[in-house]
Amino acid sequence: MGIRVHSCGIAVPDKVVTNDDLSARLDTSDAWISERTGIRERRVGGTTTGLATEAGRAALERAGLQPADIDLLLLATTTPDALVPASSTTVQHALGTGGGAIDLNAACSGFVYGLVTAAGLAAVGARRVLLIGADTLSRITDWDDRKMAVLVGDGAGAVVVEPVDGPGDLLSWNLGADGGLRHLLYCDHGGYLFMDGKEIFRKAVRIVVESAEKALADAGMTAGDVDVFVPHQANLRIIQAAGQRLGIPAERTAVVIDRYGNTSSASIPLALADAIQNGQAKPGARMLLCGFGGGMTWASAVLRWGG
Ligand code: ACO
Repeated sequence: MGIRVHSCGIAVPDKVVTNDDLSARLDTSDAWISERTGIRERRVGGTTTGLATEAGRAALERAGLQPADIDLLLLATTTPDALVPASSTTVQHALGTGGGAIDLNAACSGFVYGLVTAAGLAAVGARRVLLIGADTLSRITDWDDRKMAVLVGDGAGAVVVEPVDGPGDLLSWNLGADGGLRHLLYCDHGGYLFMDGKEIFRKAVRIVVESAEKALADAGMTAGDVDVFVPHQANLRIIQAAGQRLGIPAERTAVVIDRYGNTSSASIPLALADAIQNGQAKPGARMLLCGFGGGMTWASAVLRWGG
């Protein structure tokens, strides 16, 4: 038994914050931000549960499903609205989905971790999983800290995951974690995000390439077989460096960091939705999804898009 993954829905706040908006109140500039990160603007506002609900509803509508057709809601998030209850239960109530609801925190790798978890749940009997990646990093960011404030944005994306007979569309996966690297990126209770950007940058490129190569090998594929590379959107230079080392050209890479900044668990489904909309990801497309982030965690999946 395998899974089919389909019907991507997204939600982003209405409020656009441009690099010039940030430069007006911080010692930074549009040139620094866009050259170092590729970010031109980001969306800021709302709550994790509000954005997750909107994205989940959009995915259900696209799939032509009723909320009761879902028997598990899986929310990947680093920024739950409360410690208790789990934010997934708030989203479950707002949407009216059936069955259980769980949160999953693997920082910016959360959506791919969620995909693999959803596949496992489908294998033990879940009929239909609504997988949502949602984050509001803006709420744990010190807006006077120019190093972090220029990077983050808010958003959410969702897909429907269901079991199918046969091998299905999740062709391979690779997950990893190293809690010994906690000091590179963390946010303690009541505090703000801290990041050692230079060190994360170095590690991210190597980790993404290693993890992606393992996943591709397990799928019996090479980089040349990848129709769309959908990486976590933390920095355009990381995306480009990883793509170059893997041998995947820019025209086969999904990029939305210019419009949304780093949205953590939401960044891969936001990039996926954009690739679908601009025709990069057609039904049946072979996609390489790669996430990395706090923990550190990392995650790759080779997935055939279900449409
Ligand atoms: N505007 C202007 N100058 C700045 C800014 C800013 N916003 N931020 C830092 N600078 C300055 C620094 O103070 C430093 O000045 P100095 O040389 O006088 O000391 C200079 O710019 C260079 O700073 P670096 O930190 O060395 O800049 P770098 O080229 O490494 O870029 C960045 C920083 C963009 C953060 C990069 O390191 C990066 O993207 N790292 C990876 C981020 C990432 O992938 N995070 C993982 C997930 S994030 C998450 O989960 C929230």
